[in-house]
Amino acid sequence: MEKRPLWFDTAKKPQCPAMPIDKVYDVIVVGAGITGITTALLLAESGIKPAVFEANEVGSGTSGHTTAKITVQHGVRLSKLSDDKAAVYHNANMLGFNLIKSYAVKMKIICDYETQDSYLYALNDEEERDVAKESAACERLGIETHMVFETPLPYKIRCALVLKNQAQFHPLKYLYALAAKLISMGVPIHEKNKALAIERDERSISVVSEKGSARANAVVLATGYPMLEFPGTFFLRLHQQRSYLAAIRQPGPNGMFINAGEPVRSVRSHTLDGIPWLLAGGFGHRTGKEDGKDAGYEPLEAFLNVSFSGAKAVYGWSAQDGRTLDHIPYIGGIYDDGPQVYVAAGYDKWGMTNSAAAALMIADDIIGGNQIDKEIKSVFSPKRFSPVSAAGGFIKQAAEAAYEFTAGNASMPDGSLDDIEPGTGAVIRLNGKALAVYKDENGHISAFKAHCTHLGCPLEYNRQERSFDCACHGSRFSMTGDVIEGPAIKPLTRADAETGL
Ligand SMILES: Cc1cc2nc3c(=O)[nH]c(=O)nc-3n(C[C@H](O)[C@H](O)[C@H](O)COP(=O)(O)OP(=O)(O)OC[C@H]3O[C@@H](n4cnc5c(N)ncnc54)[C@H](O)[C@@H]3O)c2cc1C
Ligand code: FES
Repeated sequence: MEKRPLWFDTAKKPQCPAMPIDKVYDVIVVGAGITGITTALLLAESGIKPAVFEANEVGSGTSGHTTAKITVQHGVRLSKLSDDKAAVYHNANMLGFNLIKSYAVKMKIICDYETQDSYLYALNDEEERDVAKESAACERLGIETHMVFETPLPYKIRCALVLKNQAQFHPLKYLYALAAKLISMGVPIHEKNKALAIERDERSISVVSEKGSARANAVVLATGYPMLEFPGTFFLRLHQQRSYLAAIRQPGPNGMFINAGEPVRSVRSHTLDGIPWLLAGGFGHRTGKEDGKDAGYEPLEAFLNVSFSGAKAVYGWSAQDGRTLDHIPYIGGIYDDGPQVYVAAGYDKWGMTNSAAAALMIADDIIGGNQIDKEIKSVFSPKRFSPVSAAGGFIKQAAEAAYEFTAGNASMPDGSLDDIEPGTGAVIRLNGKALAVYKDENGHISAFKAHCTHLGCPLEYNRQERSFDCACHGSRFSMTGDVIEGPAIKPLTRADAETGL
């Protein structure tokens, strides 16, 4: 199994011309995933001059690792919200859905955009009850759905709620086309340019990045987990969930499917250059906590084996997305006045329509327009929590982070370098010091302090992806100590494997 997304091998990334960093831009968008690129394009189309700073490459984050179902049926979601909020959430995502569709059609993007029905299905009593609740919520909101008891899936289900006329696409063909459009408009996309710090005064905001510093009137953090701790306090109210996907070279069922409970079993198909592919995934866990029997590649492969007659994955990959306290993403400005920093995070694996909705909300705010309803902006606003109104959720997330901190530290075993197999890693206590250790195939040891450079939580070794992961907010580090995914910005601190110092 190739450990990378099918998408990377089947789309051609546009060349982002190397340009010097200007001293000033109207807006700096940090992050070139679907949120950042769509926001930058909406801004550029309105005559605003943005620049995009990307730590890696366009689409290299979660947007290049997604299942890419474009649907406003977000699992069991509307029934978890009050009807007022559910209506706003649904309307915002409809705007996002229509934006993607209009770009795909208007720009004639060849991105395998295809209309498909979306199915929320039940496999047991509990899931059946949740599907019924979601169906009732749709009915109250006037969203047209219907129930079926058989689907094109090759396994038995109890029932499924169908939302017709949703869509799917090739996420990178779409994203690369939007990026190419930006490049043709002269918008700089600075790849391999990580933003290291954000500094704000009363007149503007500076982004300190690897290739230089620049100022702007507004900054959009389209980085997944926001890199600023204050005033957002996202570390108290956002964590990351990781999921696994496989692409199998065989025809899949017509439609897009997800069950209503855990572990998630998500299925769709895709035809690429005439070759049919089956995509299946789910089996997720909180990042940094990969050792559950229902989490990871093994249960995913077992599911393929049982439910798709022994189907074998050609590609397998994993990725993560943020989850908020109240099932609604954090989208909008984080300051009350003055130069604004916008965030867009916590899509909980429904980021196609949510990212387009985020781009519309943020661009509208920056442009000073009133195209997007105030109520939508207010329901999604990252400022919507007061510590008092959200006390339970804050405390739960803070307690979980604190638990990871203390439990991780307490459970770190005493170890010996000899016990580590070549080509693997471990987090161990050596001479009283907590170390994240990697032993390469030749037995050469790399050792790091085993605490995350974000807010200091202990790391865990992720044997499936060979990385050191942090359960507090989902930062991940490579075997060379470099940041794979934030919110951490700094690499791990090297340590001496013998002394632990
Ligand atoms: C397994 C999986 C399956 C999914 N399937 C679906 C689906 O079927 N339908 C759906 O609607 N949603 C789905 N989602 C969710 C969706 O893919 C994401 O919500 C969406 O892609 C997030 O886009 P983004 O642009 O916000 O983030 P990303 O694509 O992660 O982009 C963020 C970018 O910011 C960059 N960055 C980070 N820090 C910095 C920094 N300091 N400086 C500069 N750049 C930085 C990163 O390199 C990255 O390129 C899925 C998610 C997962 C994990
Ligand atoms: S990601 Fe926040 S402490 Fe590690």
